[in-house]
Amino acid sequence: MGYFDKLKKAMSGFFPVQTREDKDAKAAESVAGPRGLPNIHVLATGGTIAGKQASAGPHYHAGEHGIEALLGAVPTVRGLANISSEQVTNIGSQDMDEKTWLKLVHRVNELLARADVDGIIITHGTDTLEETACFLDLTVPSGKPVVLVGAMRPADAVGADGPANLFDAVVVASSPDSAARGVLVAMNGNVFEARDVTKVSTTAVQAFAAPNFGPLGQVHDGRVFYWRRSDRASARQQPEFDVSGLDKLPAVGIVYGHANAPALPVTALVEAQYRGIVSAGVGNGNLYHEVLAALADAASRGIAVVRSSRVAAGPTMRGIELDDARYGFIAAGTLNPQKARVLLQLALTRTQEPGEIQKMFDYC
Ligand code: SIN
Repeated sequence: MGYFDKLKKAMSGFFPVQTREDKDAKAAESVAGPRGLPNIHVLATGGTIAGKQASAGPHYHAGEHGIEALLGAVPTVRGLANISSEQVTNIGSQDMDEKTWLKLVHRVNELLARADVDGIIITHGTDTLEETACFLDLTVPSGKPVVLVGAMRPADAVGADGPANLFDAVVVASSPDSAARGVLVAMNGNVFEARDVTKVSTTAVQAFAAPNFGPLGQVHDGRVFYWRRSDRASARQQPEFDVSGLDKLPAVGIVYGHANAPALPVTALVEAQYRGIVSAGVGNGNLYHEVLAALADAASRGIAVVRSSRVAAGPTMRGIELDDARYGFIAAGTLNPQKARVLLQLALTRTQEPGEIQKMFDYC
């Protein structure tokens, strides 16, 4: 029995795992559609990519145009794939919620189970795109491509970036090379993995980066070129969560660290009976002493406490600057606070036990 088989066997009692081979096999079950082209289904959720500018002025409203209008701006995608689409919602992604996440993941899993669907694209606002990507990455078992895409300029702006990004997303979703890479994000010519991608600019077209590991690849002239494969999404086995029976997720809040930080946000979450708290700490997840005391108290009451960092890159390491074992804390590794929150919500659907949750963070 090889290393990965042994690891898979050892971990199978803990959470269901899939190897890259499992995912490749599932992805290979897909069939090409009419004209020998892949069948790509687009799920539209709104965002600036669907935004409308009221006039030549700077104001616009996200989530106004329907998906048919967005696809109409890039007619050449019909030469890459057989495209079908549906409007899941049409919102600015600041209003994304877990009800919509669950609706989305149920629909994605339903579609990907069909032999006549080869890949999924999700149009999405950029503000919380990384959180939806992370959620789907942890809840979609299929190895078929799932690609999130957005835009920084509204659909009717001069120099709108949405059409090019949508075209690239179709390129990525249509490529067999995109299979078994986890959920992907196509933005401004780059392809990112869900776990590392984050929004790094409030306004620039180059709004996304993968601060720890860099992009997986790039799209040029209608072709996707991958430079590397993420071990996390493929050979390395990350937890996957079955949310098919759920209509809500456990409540998890984030508290932001800074000099002279008060304990108040932590105590408010404890009083509101949140089941988990993520700390966006300073540096390597460090905590102002009053916040440390409040979080230690929360952990002693059985609330799951995850230490992440407000710093853009680098891991929050277990037991380096703080004795996590002593306080019953969980270290987030390279997951930023908003993604650590997503994983903690999912982890809490299985267990409240910090040691078990730490393992999920270690493998994510
Ligand atoms: C949003 O996230 O819906 C608004 C901002 C954007 O899409 O760029």
